Amino acid sequence: MTRNSIKVLLAVGAVVAATFALAAVATAGVVNSKHDFSSGGTGGNWGATNQAQVCIFCHTPHNAQAGQEPLWNRVALSKTFSIYSSDTFDGKSTIGQPGGNSKLCLSCHDGSVAIDAYVAGNPSASPKMMAIGDVYYPGSPYGQGGPNIGGNYAGNNNVNDLTNDHPVSFTYDDALANADKHLKLASALPATLPLYGGKMECATCHDVHNQKSIAGTKLLRVAKDGSALCLTCHLK
Ligand code: HEC
Ligand code: HEC
Ligand code: HEC
Ligand code: HEC
Repeated sequence: MTRNSIKVLLAVGAVVAATFALAAVATAGVVNSKHDFSSGGTGGNWGATNQAQVCIFCHTPHNAQAGQEPLWNRVALSKTFSIYSSDTFDGKSTIGQPGGNSKLCLSCHDGSVAIDAYVAGNPSASPKMMAIGDVYYPGSPYGQGGPNIGGNYAGNNNVNDLTNDHPVSFTYDDALANADKHLKLASALPATLPLYGGKMECATCHDVHNQKSIAGTKLLRVAKDGSALCLTCHLK
């Protein structure tokens, strides 16, 4: 085999690889992911019968909910959550009630708010879809927990429990990292793990739109194998 034919083979290989890469990019995204609740969505266990749009369950181009970015279309969440604490948790001086995009996630993942409790463009006056906690409760065939991060379910209302979840909505800056001594400097974090207004939120670890998430994980921005996700921040 000549050098040139090897080059040709390599070139063909590169084109094939690029095609596969393009195909992978084309299939990712929110459409047909677990967060596609439209009547045509195929990615998850939940789907509306009366709504063919995808983004509308979370966003609206007009008449968005005041004070909730980006262009948020869900009923504002006004709940008090029990939040994470420990003697060694270094973010304790800045952690508060979930804010930013964590509050947006919890407008479904609290367990009690119906998936189709969106405002603008909602064809039904009363929500028809269930809340996550109506499916994931103790004794349920689907198991307990699952996507029910806030711990509410029928008969177990207003628990609003985030004490057993990785802390969110606290400031992660270089001062925190220096105090902890075993954390990457916030200023040295890779762009793959974004902070929002200097704070760590649910979307720091998860990509809700399924664009950059690692295949085979629950929308994680960095792989779980070898605990690569944890080790990006924690120097353990
Ligand atoms: C409109 C309601 C809603 C909002 C808002 C929402 N989720 Fe979800 N999410 C769900 C539902 C329902 C499921 C379960 C889907 C299924 O199993 O079919 C889910 C599933 C998930 C999963 C598991 C995916 C998998 O592959 O099993 C993750 C992780 C997740 N959500 C994270 C988030 C994060 C982080 C946010 C905010 C940035 C968020 N979600 C906002 C309703 C929502
Ligand atoms: C299940 C809820 C959910 C659905 C469905 C959803 N989004 Fe989002 N979106 C969020 C959340 C939460 C954030 C803030 C966190 C983040 O940026 O990841 C966000 C952020 C955004 C942003 C601002 C940040 C950025 O990445 O530029 C845009 C633009 C956006 N979404 C567009 C869309 C469009 C367009 C669709 C439909 C094709 C869509 N979203 C569907 C929950 C959702
Ligand atoms: C430090 C990173 C990190 C943060 C912050 C984080 N998660 Fe997760 N989350 C994970 C990991 C890791 C998993 C397990 C993923 C897997 O098994 O693929 C997970 C799993 C999930 C699941 C799927 C649970 C299941 O059993 O199906 C949901 C839903 C979820 N997270 C939502 C959230 C919400 C909502 C927030 C904010 C309140 C949040 N996460 C904050 C790392 C994080
Ligand atoms: C984006 C960066 C980031 C990622 C990714 C991340 N963490 Fe954290 N984690 C932090 C920060 C910052 C704190 C608060 C500082 C501290 O006390 O350690 C924290 C806190 C914790 C705590 C509580 C520490 C205490 O003293 O109470 C534990 C345990 C923990 N993380 C484990 C994990 C695990 C396990 C993973 C992977 C599944 C993970 N973290 C992923 C940044 C991250």
